[in-house]
Amino acid sequence: MTVSPQDLDTLMAARFSCRAFRPDPVPRDTITAIVETARRVPSWCNAQPWQVIVTSGEDTDRFRKALQNEVANGTPAPDLPFPKGYSGVYQARRRECGWALYEAVGVTKGDREGSARQTMRNFALFDAPHCAIITSPVELGEYGAMDSGGFVAAFTLAAQAHGVATVPQAAVASYSPLLHRQFGIPDDRLVLCAISFGYADPDAPENRFRTTRAPVSDIVDWRG
Ligand SMILES: Cc1cc2nc3c(=O)[nH]c(=O)nc-3n(C[C@H](O)[C@H](O)[C@H](O)COP(=O)(O)O)c2cc1C
Repeated sequence: MTVSPQDLDTLMAARFSCRAFRPDPVPRDTITAIVETARRVPSWCNAQPWQVIVTSGEDTDRFRKALQNEVANGTPAPDLPFPKGYSGVYQARRRECGWALYEAVGVTKGDREGSARQTMRNFALFDAPHCAIITSPVELGEYGAMDSGGFVAAFTLAAQAHGVATVPQAAVASYSPLLHRQFGIPDDRLVLCAISFGYADPDAPENRFRTTRAPVSDIVDWRG
């Protein structure tokens, strides 16, 4: 074991959801290395249900345009049902991170146009040069999605270790039918989410805030 807990903690603390990217592409070898690391996460029966479509260059731009067109003319229809709601502490945390983003980009309370504009940035993939689309087999159901969630987290951390910024996006998966059409994803696979990635624009206000976390005492219920 050569990685110290501090090193892992440093990596975990450095990662954040990036919402403004520089246009420079990430070398194919680096993307391959990220996937090579991420695929080491555990999965039930070692099924490794995740599959990833990675776009680059004009393919990312074509997808961006198609997505924006779908948002303007289509209806959201995610493969994986979105949460029924966020109440209590979950609602509070959702609001806190939403407001932190709005504050960073200068969207004030009641500015519906400003918040809609920021939401729409999702469908421009935050100008990222690459997008990874994560799918898992319908047959594996929720556990396929659960295993793939681990893969998504590991992908973001492995990317961070290579100096590559990421943002997981459920928003993109809300237009799953387009993704099936655009990328020839068969109906026996669920579109789970996308991860837009590239090199962060460090000066962008969207990238200047960080989210908080609940303390361990709110997470662990010690017994014995
Ligand atoms: C499965 C998943 C879906 C997400 N979907 C979106 C999204 O659609 N748009 C977005 O801006 N951020 C999205 N995020 C990023 C979260 O908002 C972010 O992880 C959270 O606020 C914690 O902030 P951090 O990643 O900067 O630590 C998503 C994250 C996950 C894990």
